[in-house]
Amino acid sequence: MRLALARLALILLAAACSEGEAYEFAGPVALDGDAITAPLDGKTGDAARGLEIFVSREEGHCVLCHAIEGLDAEFQGNVGPELTGLADRLTPGEIRLRIAGAQKIWPDTLMPSYYTTEGLNRVAPEYQDAPALSAQQIEDLVAYLSGLKA
Ligand code: HEC
Repeated sequence: MRLALARLALILLAAACSEGEAYEFAGPVALDGDAITAPLDGKTGDAARGLEIFVSREEGHCVLCHAIEGLDAEFQGNVGPELTGLADRLTPGEIRLRIAGAQKIWPDTLMPSYYTTEGLNRVAPEYQDAPALSAQQIEDLVAYLSGLKA
């Protein structure tokens, strides 16, 4: 019985390790189901800044893969789903987790996990240099995207 329990503990530990192997979040997150329910690092988002980060090559450059109807940007990609009216289908917490840790939801996704310390390894090579974003930048993006209602 003791031995069986010890073995079970080892198996669970191994499973936990391999799950965590993909990446670690860059800081503490309030993970609840498929959402991060509290702002990262207690930051307050600024929607206007979020829009800039979404478009900017030096920052999020989300337009590389996502289009938003009515967005004033020269190029908008379609590798990822269109984000028009996003707030009608996702809560701010759900949006936050998708930006901070997309690989937590879709382990093999092309979308980089932006609030992590490592593990862009599962991302296609051409996107491996995608910059990680700060807690403030992610909150700005959440503020912007949470305002997108159809
Ligand atoms: C390399 C391409 C790529 C980049 C860059 C990228 N994404 Fe994504 N994103 C995706 C893909 C692909 C999905 C769909 C998830 C899947 O099924 O793999 C997705 C999903 C999402 C979703 C969920 C959409 C929904 O309808 O459920 C959000 C929100 C999102 N991305 C926001 C962002 C933001 C914000 C940025 C910039 C910081 C960004 N993405 C950068 C590829 C990308």
